[in-house]
Amino acid sequence: MALSRIPARRLIQSRTLDDISKKRAFDAALSALGRVGAAAHYLQSLPPSKVEHGSSPHAIKHLSNDYPVEFARAYLLKNVVKCALAGEIYSGHFRNTRRIIDLGTGPGTFLFSFASSLKNNEFVGIDRNYEALRLCAYLFRLVRLSPPLLICASLPEAIASGGMFFTASYLLAELADHELVRLAQLVTLRADAQFLVVDYPEVIARFSSLIPDDRFHATCSVTTDLPEELSSRMGDDHVSFGALFAPAIATRYRAIS
Ligand SMILES: C[S@@+](CC[C@H](N)C(=O)[O-])C[C@H]1O[C@@H](n2cnc3c(N)ncnc32)[C@H](O)[C@@H]1O
Repeated sequence: MALSRIPARRLIQSRTLDDISKKRAFDAALSALGRVGAAAHYLQSLPPSKVEHGSSPHAIKHLSNDYPVEFARAYLLKNVVKCALAGEIYSGHFRNTRRIIDLGTGPGTFLFSFASSLKNNEFVGIDRNYEALRLCAYLFRLVRLSPPLLICASLPEAIASGGMFFTASYLLAELADHELVRLAQLVTLRADAQFLVVDYPEVIARFSSLIPDDRFHATCSVTTDLPEELSSRMGDDHVSFGALFAPAIATRYRAIS
């Protein structure tokens, strides 16, 4: 079925962060920004290419697929902040997860946010764009973080790999309808794994509508003004994104009775 014909069954709830979680989330975002300062500085020092920027998903897809450096220059800091905020909302769930697999890693936004706040976790990044992965590895070295294990592969099949926590940020808008349907099927099959997906709220609502009712998950949409110290560094005074979180609902091993 074409995705555009699939009704968005579940409404995405807007989520208001209370003052305490806002402060925690802003602190996490500030610390992530502090960690990636050298990478942002390097990207800004490169000569800009002539490619046109636009804010539609189509324009961003063009940028991230064909101009990974330009994509990173425009979106690294913005996405690091969004991912840090989304990560903070659900952090209790994945803090103790050993392996975190990032789908559609690009220049490494999600992994930067996680690697700067989580210790003792193992990070894996999967993307079909070799240039983007090379840039990710370089930026990690620039900021003196150990580069994650990077795998050049096509999704959604790569999700079958052995991770217990999957993330995907701003990947869904790039997937073709049949890939999104397949990803939703795999999410259902991997009931032993947890997922955190960050994307445009309308894309999150569509993806959520593809996941069967027996795979529990929560969606939210977050819009929040940013304090001056964050907005001056990332160049926007507010952020807005959708997030989908699906906790693990089964373990791979049966208990001995
Ligand atoms: C918009 S970028 C997002 C990068 C990063 N997650 C972020 O938030 O900054 C999307 C990435 O997904 C990758 N991608 C899109 N479709 C893919 C597929 N079918 N298999 C593997 N990677 C894919 C693209 O190469 C691109 O690097």
